[in-house]
Amino acid sequence: MGFEEMWAALLPVGRDPGAGGYHRFAWTPPELECRDWFLDEARARGLRVERDRNGNLFAWWDTGGTDEPGVLTGSHLDSVPGGGAYDGPLGVVSAFAAIDLLRERGARPRRPIGIAAFAEEEGARFGVACLGSRLLSGAITPERARGLRDRDGRTFAEVLAAHGTDPEGIGRDDDLLGRIGCLVELHIEQGRALDVPVGVAGAIVPHGRWRFDFTGEGNHAGTTRLEDRRDPMQPFAHMILEARRAAARNGTLTTVGKVQVTPNGVNAIPSAVTAWLDGRGPADDAVRRTVAEVHAAARAAAREHGVSVELAEESYSEVVGFDTALRDRLAATLGGVPVLPTGAGHDAGILASRLPTAMLFVRNPTGVSHAPAESATTDDCLAGVEALTAVLADLAC
Ligand code: GLV
Ligand code: MN
Ligand code: MN
Ligand code: MN
Repeated sequence: MGFEEMWAALLPVGRDPGAGGYHRFAWTPPELECRDWFLDEARARGLRVERDRNGNLFAWWDTGGTDEPGVLTGSHLDSVPGGGAYDGPLGVVSAFAAIDLLRERGARPRRPIGIAAFAEEEGARFGVACLGSRLLSGAITPERARGLRDRDGRTFAEVLAAHGTDPEGIGRDDDLLGRIGCLVELHIEQGRALDVPVGVAGAIVPHGRWRFDFTGEGNHAGTTRLEDRRDPMQPFAHMILEARRAAARNGTLTTVGKVQVTPNGVNAIPSAVTAWLDGRGPADDAVRRTVAEVHAAARAAAREHGVSVELAEESYSEVVGFDTALRDRLAATLGGVPVLPTGAGHDAGILASRLPTAMLFVRNPTGVSHAPAESATTDDCLAGVEALTAVLADLAC
């Protein structure tokens, strides 16, 4: 199957027929269907399937007779709630298509080429982004990962076990890391930073997720006097407004995109509100200062309203500078394409702590991502496949 057929096969999986966004959360039925698709594509090409200890999938084109570690490509198959079609799957589909082109052109790799589908990249189910690559690289402890819970209260350990992965075996995998010489992840560009079909990533800015738990007192909407209320929605509202102001002051970006209100009734003062703050920026100190200022404002407003607030850092990634030699080699192979930074997180960013990693970006004409309008033209996708093919030929053949 060529790129376009593979793309068409994957397109309906997990798509909301109304709004058009994707809901492919790790180990839920649509994401499992994507995993089955991955396994079918791997087997159809005679690639060796590897399920690692951390829920990640790999398809290897083995070459035999070499000790040289492989060149890994691929990306992820899960999505954010209501996400676009390209974030993740474009890198996986392009990887299969690139292997097809290498074979059609008679390439004979001297070292293995692998395709990865990393688990729970978006953290949409268990809250921590890039969970599969964090575990593989040792960036999160197995204990913490095992205890992460989804919305229904199911732990990561339970879900892994239900899908055939031993939760006691998760964690940094030096054997697998030792078999990966480098990683080149292809991805849709997620803003308006690229005005040619393909570019190379320079860096990922610092970013993290913080959880604010506001606890007040549930009560009746009609019988509780204003002065008797301990309404957690009030300091939460201050927190949202301060998130925007603090970002503007510090030159950062903040987003409150997920909220849980308990019990979530129209005529009940909530007993608790949990809100997640996504914070990103050009430098660690600016991001840290932003979060500290939002926390201070939340604390002050909470005090005013008789509510408590707890802050927990769920994940944080410092600035990632991709491997400069690999990055320059990609740019040279592709004839001087632009090198651009990004505000989006990626498995290639997490794994940069363990091995040389680099990324290729494909132009996104809408500039929209994590939403249904995310897009790329077929011509640009095919240019991405050609670029990845050239890079794999350079690195592995
Ligand atoms: C991942 O896509 C992220 O940057 O949130
Ligand atoms: Mn994403
Ligand atoms: Mn992605
Ligand atoms: Mn107030």
